[in-house]
Amino acid sequence: DWTMAEFRAAKIAEIRAQVGKGRVICGLSGGVDSAVAAVLIHEAIGDQLTCVFVDHGLMRSGEAEQVVSLFRNHYNIPLVHVDAEATFLEGLAGVTDPEAKRKFIGAAFIDIFEAEAKKVGGADFLAQGTLYPDVIESVSFTGGPSVTIKSHHNVGGLPARMNMQLVEPLRELFKDEVRALGRELGLTEAFVGRHPFPGPGLAIRIPGEVTKERCDILRKADAIYLEEIRAAGLYDTIWQAFAVLLPVRSVGVMGDGRTYDNVLALRAVTSTDGMTAEAFQFPGDFLPRVATRIVNEVKGINRVTYDYTSKPPGTIEWE
Ligand code: XMP
Repeated sequence: DWTMAEFRAAKIAEIRAQVGKGRVICGLSGGVDSAVAAVLIHEAIGDQLTCVFVDHGLMRSGEAEQVVSLFRNHYNIPLVHVDAEATFLEGLAGVTDPEAKRKFIGAAFIDIFEAEAKKVGGADFLAQGTLYPDVIESVSFTGGPSVTIKSHHNVGGLPARMNMQLVEPLRELFKDEVRALGRELGLTEAFVGRHPFPGPGLAIRIPGEVTKERCDILRKADAIYLEEIRAAGLYDTIWQAFAVLLPVRSVGVMGDGRTYDNVLALRAVTSTDGMTAEAFQFPGDFLPRVATRIVNEVKGINRVTYDYTSKPPGTIEWE
């Protein structure tokens, strides 16, 4: 049977055959998939590869630093770090429709890759960590009619003007296989075991308009939630856990005062491939404890709810 070592060798040969002497730009999102794709491609073609990490300001707390340090210090793979927070936040100002957010973000990534490609004297290929479920979910929904549920930020091809080809070595793989390949390539368990994080980042976890202030509030609440999940030893049994900042305010009381602040939803699901999912059942006092901590520690949130919806009929992300 097909082992990951064989897959690695076969893909390396395939990448070399596709790329030849060409130059490749690889977009890193901060997640496991693009990191595994980059390490694999680097093994195949070495310094013909330029990795570009676009920090769109929509990352979780500490995430940008982790990626930069993994590539620069652990692998010694050169990395261009683009600080694009202002570009993304300005472009997202006033945008509330989920598909409009996704389309803007996808296009902004492409613009940045194109600009970086010019800086290295032109690139012939753009590499991405697209997985099999990304491809099918952008096209149709399991068992359902052929409609777009969500436009994934890295699916749908490149604008014709770009004259670049895609290199997507993980296109046939499911998440568990990408993790196995990551281990095979020497990524640490802590890195390969990370929960998936969508390319559009926190923008699709803030229904309504995305602002810097909302991102900051969400980052703080999300960090507390994940810290408690790790402390309770539950991180590895959950497929994905995150907070969603709702554009809804509710009345509360704190000390002698009235509060009128935002509502936060917590989500945690179990899944094997992200295509179907069940809400995770936390033990007894876990959720009340997290809710209390978040309301006490995060200014701007005065109520916390838990999302029990499975997929289908819900999706994992809210947008
Ligand atoms: P949904 O919300 O469609 O998510 O149930 C399924 C899985 O895909 C992730 N996701 C994305 N990943 N780009 C990505 O790289 C995207 O645009 C995107 N949208 C959703 C989501 O976090 C979940 O793991």
